[in-house]
Amino acid sequence: MKQYLPMKVTVSIIKADIGGLPGHAWVHPKILEFAAERLREEQRSGLLIDYFVYNVGDDMSLLMTHTKGENNPDIHGLAWSIFKEATENIAKKVKLYGAGQDLLKDTFSGNIRGGLGPQVAEMEFEERPSEPLVVFAADKTEPGAFNLPFYRIFADPFNTAGLVIDPAMHQGGFRFEILDVYEGKVYLLDAPENSYDILGLIGTPGRYIIRRIYRKSDLVQASVTSVERLNLIAGRYVGKDDPVAIVRAQHGLPAVGEVLEAFAYPHLVEGWMRGGSHVGPLMPAKMVSIDQERKIALGPKMTRFDGPPKVIALGFQLHDGYLEGPRGLI
Ligand code: 13P
Ligand code: 13P
Ligand code: MG
Ligand code: MG
Repeated sequence: MKQYLPMKVTVSIIKADIGGLPGHAWVHPKILEFAAERLREEQRSGLLIDYFVYNVGDDMSLLMTHTKGENNPDIHGLAWSIFKEATENIAKKVKLYGAGQDLLKDTFSGNIRGGLGPQVAEMEFEERPSEPLVVFAADKTEPGAFNLPFYRIFADPFNTAGLVIDPAMHQGGFRFEILDVYEGKVYLLDAPENSYDILGLIGTPGRYIIRRIYRKSDLVQASVTSVERLNLIAGRYVGKDDPVAIVRAQHGLPAVGEVLEAFAYPHLVEGWMRGGSHVGPLMPAKMVSIDQERKIALGPKMTRFDGPPKVIALGFQLHDGYLEGPRGLI
């Protein structure tokens, strides 16, 4: 049996809407295939340990594991070139709707976080002896849509019994890093002590977004959510900042079931139809198909009014940077 060696691995999700089939409904399967092929090449070249490609609605997520750390120019550059090439060679050729929608700039400047358009969620951590990961992606909504469920996962004992009965969580609870996307200010607030302050901020999800969550006793990072706001970057409406997130589960962190339970209630979120001019319920939705061989999963069907706002969840076991799975968790 292989011996366990602690290693630092980076899990990166970079996501963009580069055109819809039809309208804002879905990603073209050829684009998912193209992305998976490019990522396969980079796995062979040694840049990536592993990868997976999936969509929800018109947003394609590139999930990549590697040892390069966060904000790495090679990793970000790879995602950018995949989005650019798929826009030019597929989306524009077959005239997908809103081809290149989330690509705000023409040239890559080393880091996708510098306002280029795509959403980024990345976490570097030491792999535990067993490392369950849940990745979320939502469409027809905004990054603050994850505020309420993430609060429930990490601060509400009626959702997460582990906060009461698991000594590792009971001692100290969790630290929330909340970003004010208008002022660029960061707040670090602890639950349960500062619960009312946390709720006071995240109840305005268009402005205050939970970005990272840490276990307070040892600052193990438990989650990361993308926070890019496209309209704030571009200064006008250009498409929406549909969010992605990564959550680590079990063994002193919320159980997979507790992580998912927070999404069972379809709370109202902004971002539905006509550039987010409507609110709607955030519906947990099942993937249409998951192909583990080709490392591609097709997202749920959009059924009403370009939506409703949907969230998908995929579950992996990480081992030595490899992504075992995924299983559709909804
Ligand atoms: P097992 O006993 O199956 O490991 O499950 C533990 C748990 O906490 C599930 O919610
Ligand atoms: P997207 O942000 O998902 O492209 O949706 C835009 C829209 O207006 C859908 O009605
Ligand atoms: Mg779109
Ligand atoms: Mg979208």
